[in-house]
Amino acid sequence: MSGPLEVENLHAFYGTSHVLFGINLTVHPGECVCLLGRNGVGKTTTMRSIMGLVPARDGRITYDGRNLSGLPPHEIARSGIGFAPDARLIFPDLSVRDNLEIAIKPPLASGTLPWTLERIYKLFPILKPLEANAGGYLSGGEQQMLTVGRALMGNPTLLLLDEPVEGLAPVVVQELTQQIIELKNTGISILFAEQNLSFATQVADRAYIIEGGRVRFDGRLEDLERQPEIKAKYLMI
Ligand SMILES: Nc1ncnc2c1ncn2[C@@H]1O[C@H](COP(=O)(O)OP(=O)(O)O)[C@@H](O)[C@H]1O
Ligand SMILES: [Mg+2]
Repeated sequence: MSGPLEVENLHAFYGTSHVLFGINLTVHPGECVCLLGRNGVGKTTTMRSIMGLVPARDGRITYDGRNLSGLPPHEIARSGIGFAPDARLIFPDLSVRDNLEIAIKPPLASGTLPWTLERIYKLFPILKPLEANAGGYLSGGEQQMLTVGRALMGNPTLLLLDEPVEGLAPVVVQELTQQIIELKNTGISILFAEQNLSFATQVADRAYIIEGGRVRFDGRLEDLERQPEIKAKYLMI
């Protein structure tokens, strides 16, 4: 099993615009943690900073004992972190199968069960009959499953999911919720961003509420239930 993800005092900017003001967070091995908060508070920027896609201006990010600060995104991916971005970014002209195969990267540790096409199709059965279809023709839900599947083909030990259920029909949200719970039960660590408390409560062990580029609450979701003023202030409920 790998070590934790630790983000300490993370500051990030877009040009001269300061958007993250000292984010601190930890994801322990095997944990499923949620970054909760309304639109525009800094959830995506936090994930993009962890992946090295937005430079961290200050602070420290370590994963599995390795300092990620200043590393390029492909090196960060090689340290065991997979990313399913909110924009999905699957290849529209490639088949479902090719979208998955292009992302194959062997597991870091020997003895871990590697992800294969069969294993992806077992988790997301809807993709199997579509495997020869072009990615661009999939529905939103199918594209989201393909995005998660593609990240898994890299055999990450930590998976970052940016608003995985956003914009999907309620029935698809239910399906994906069950699939993410199933994924969590494989022992992988998960950090996901979400605006809505109900999905987060079903899958996450712990949450960080972000607002204005700062962490405003850090704790178990059950504890949040007893704090209606925090929910009202920082979340869509
Ligand atoms: N590429 C960008 N250039 C400039 N500002 C950006 C860019 N992306 C996001 N921002 C700004 O940074 C802040 C945080 O955005 P983001 O991390 O995307 O929030 P969230 O994911 O929580 O909705 C917002 O004020 C947003 O307008
Ligand atoms: Mg976002």
